Amino acid sequence: MIRNNIKRREFLKQAAASTAVVAVLPASSVLGANDRVRLGIIGFGARGQEDMRDALKLPNVEFVAAADVYNRRHEEAKRLAPGVKTFTDHRRLLDLKDVDAVIVASPLHCHARHFLDTIAAGKDLFCEKTMTWSLEEAESCHNAARKSDRVIQIGLQHQSSGPLADAKQWIKEGLVGKVTHVESWMSRNTPKGKGQWVRPVPADCTAANVDWNLFLNGRRSRPFDPYKFINWRLYWEFSGGNVTENMVHQIALIMRALDLPLPTSAYMAGGVFSERDGREVPDTIAVTLEFPNDLTVTWQSTFSNSHYGLGERFLGSDGTIERLAGSTDMVTGKSQTGVWYFPEKVNRPDGTAAEGLSKDVNHMANFIDCVRSRKEPNASIEIGYRSAVAAHMANLAYRQKERVTLKAVRRGPTTA
Ligand SMILES: NC(=O)c1ccc[n+]([C@@H]2O[C@H](COP(=O)([O-])OP(=O)(O)OC[C@H]3O[C@@H](n4cnc5c(N)ncnc54)[C@H](O)[C@@H]3O)[C@@H](O)[C@H]2O)c1
Repeated sequence: MIRNNIKRREFLKQAAASTAVVAVLPASSVLGANDRVRLGIIGFGARGQEDMRDALKLPNVEFVAAADVYNRRHEEAKRLAPGVKTFTDHRRLLDLKDVDAVIVASPLHCHARHFLDTIAAGKDLFCEKTMTWSLEEAESCHNAARKSDRVIQIGLQHQSSGPLADAKQWIKEGLVGKVTHVESWMSRNTPKGKGQWVRPVPADCTAANVDWNLFLNGRRSRPFDPYKFINWRLYWEFSGGNVTENMVHQIALIMRALDLPLPTSAYMAGGVFSERDGREVPDTIAVTLEFPNDLTVTWQSTFSNSHYGLGERFLGSDGTIERLAGSTDMVTGKSQTGVWYFPEKVNRPDGTAAEGLSKDVNHMANFIDCVRSRKEPNASIEIGYRSAVAAHMANLAYRQKERVTLKAVRRGPTTA
């Protein structure tokens, strides 16, 4: 079993402290339907900047503060919002009384710390996916969130999508029958010699401009490594690879459509087959997840063929739901995107095919609305937790090269 000897005890101590604070927080101050929502952000890199731009398109939203360990981001934040306060240490941002809600878009290995500190500081939280880097962290964040009255949205934007709403409706209407298998996949390609996910290191990415120890967040101390700082996604210490980058979106969609509990077991095969640039996380992946009540879910992914884009097929006794994004139609060669229902004629002879027409809901707008209304957002802590556990079980199975059961991972300290 892979042991998380990187400061597990330290993390749990910190988590316990945060949980205690959350439990005694006073009731939240209530914003009115038209009140200005004042946002802070922790981690203002590629995704953080997208999230903030999305938020600033909404009415009555203000960007008050940004915390990032890289000085360059402070300048970038000021270009987006000239009056914004900038910090290197996220705790200084959380000290501010005029921040109502915080977006966490730091690298995966920092999510749990930023998640727990944010709700302990009494702020509402939009935490990018995957919710956490490890199983223990998923448990700690889940427990802390359940004791807190903070509004929490996870950055699983497919939870606000039209295709999910259509799939849920078809399943609820009984059009699909018994689903014993869901197959899902996600495929990408890059020109030869250009590794998927690899980012160039900017000239100003130096030890003087980065707080490397804050980035390490308890990992072994070592001299500044600009390549790893920029390309953290490629290394297990900081990342969960494509399972936490992409599978988590699709597994969360499947879990929500079928209202699934945690998987009972996971297996994952694959390896670094196409992107041999020194990365640790696999580029070729086949995951099998088992769920209670007779269901198997598979997810397959490559970085060296993009023909089939991304999708899920729910295979039921009475019908099939197929969601596609960017898949190439084999006859026309055109890209296909959407969600469809097809009846199984053996069991629904009079059934007709249907195309889903529901519109996506703006995921960030849903969060901001919930900050005002105190309702539960579309990607709640529950789906954030369950999808994170599924992802971590798959990665554990890959790293241990054996099937992993929920019972076993709950028995001992492990890390993906
Ligand atoms: N929902 C989506 O579709 C989606 C898409 C892309 C990325 N993401 C997620 O967003 C997160 C960020 O990804 P990215 O591509 O923007 O990474 P990135 O490296 O571009 O940005 C991360 C930022 O965090 C900063 N940072 C690192 N450690 C920090 C710390 N301890 N405190 C404060 N700031 C710190 C870095 O300096 C950097 O600016 C990841 O969890 C990723 O999975 C989600």
